[in-house]
Amino acid sequence: MGELDWPNLPFGYIKTDYNIRCYYRDGAWGELEVSESETVNLHMASTCLHYGQEAFEGLKAFRGKDGKIRIFRLDENAKRLQSSCDGIMMAKMPIELFTEAVRKVVKLNERFIPPYESGSSLYIRPFLIGTSAQVGVSPAKEYLFMIFVTPVGPYFKGGFKTSPVVILRQYDRAAPLGTGIYKVGGNYAASLVAGEKAHELGYAAVLYLDAKEKKYLDECGPANFFAIKNNTYITPISTSILPSITNNSLMKLAEEMGLKVERRQITTEELETFEEAGQCGTAAVISPISKVDDLDENNSFVIAKDGMPGPICTRLYQKLRAIQYGDEPDNYGWVTVLE
Ligand code: PLP
Ligand code: COI
Repeated sequence: MGELDWPNLPFGYIKTDYNIRCYYRDGAWGELEVSESETVNLHMASTCLHYGQEAFEGLKAFRGKDGKIRIFRLDENAKRLQSSCDGIMMAKMPIELFTEAVRKVVKLNERFIPPYESGSSLYIRPFLIGTSAQVGVSPAKEYLFMIFVTPVGPYFKGGFKTSPVVILRQYDRAAPLGTGIYKVGGNYAASLVAGEKAHELGYAAVLYLDAKEKKYLDECGPANFFAIKNNTYITPISTSILPSITNNSLMKLAEEMGLKVERRQITTEELETFEEAGQCGTAAVISPISKVDDLDENNSFVIAKDGMPGPICTRLYQKLRAIQYGDEPDNYGWVTVLE
């Protein structure tokens, strides 16, 4: 490869050397296989192509000042993939096999892990699909698990700076008793129209409301929502949002900083009381929110009055990044160091 422009990488696909594959056949997972091919050969009646049997994960590896490679909360992503598999009836990848596969694919593509100074990282995308042929709606008997990696910069343009989000009341992403709590492809298909509309209108993301009452905040298209007021970190509780591992980590860090943490329903009216707010996720890290426009209600809630990230979002961001890159101690056992 030519030298990559490490500090200015987009959040996108860059070909790396190897990917990992593992097949589930006759009720058992096979060996991990290393591949150099970017394509897969699929039966045209595979359940992933017709009935959405697809789940994925997203995690990151970081290169520290000490040159070591650190993977953030690997076990949590392994567990969440299992939960997604239960949610759409796919064969579950054992935790140990998942972690071994992630370690292996990162190690094999070591030369693509951005240098410490760049502030970029290696995005790891494990996914699992139903591959056997089925015409009636029922789960596949065979599955393929894969992981590719790609070096990435920030998900939202400009990295750590504020951006606006929008409530579009004519669209839902996930139903209260649907698949929103799982990381399955169908949820993202359901978010494409609203997401593109938001981008055309100049917003970074859609802030979805609960689909039933349209009263409470749910989450953003690719990230959870949190807000700060009165020295409290507040994040929605809902049956239709993805349990974000970043959000879970930020709640711990907020507590450690002496903030109160509340997981509860948040009404749209409460938006005007927030001192700070942000989107959080593996790709988003923390993306502070400048304002929330509720277009159909003709309401606009300005959160960052000066357009700058607030002090608590900034501290949380710095703390999280410091743990991920190994600049500060990993007090919670979140980091897997690859030797
Ligand atoms: N919510 C949605 C819908 C997401 O796609 C993601 C990204 O993974 C998140 C939240 C954040 O989750 P995590 O922090 O585990 O990456
Ligand atoms: C992530 O943060 O890992 C995501 O999956 C978000 C988005 C790229 C779908």
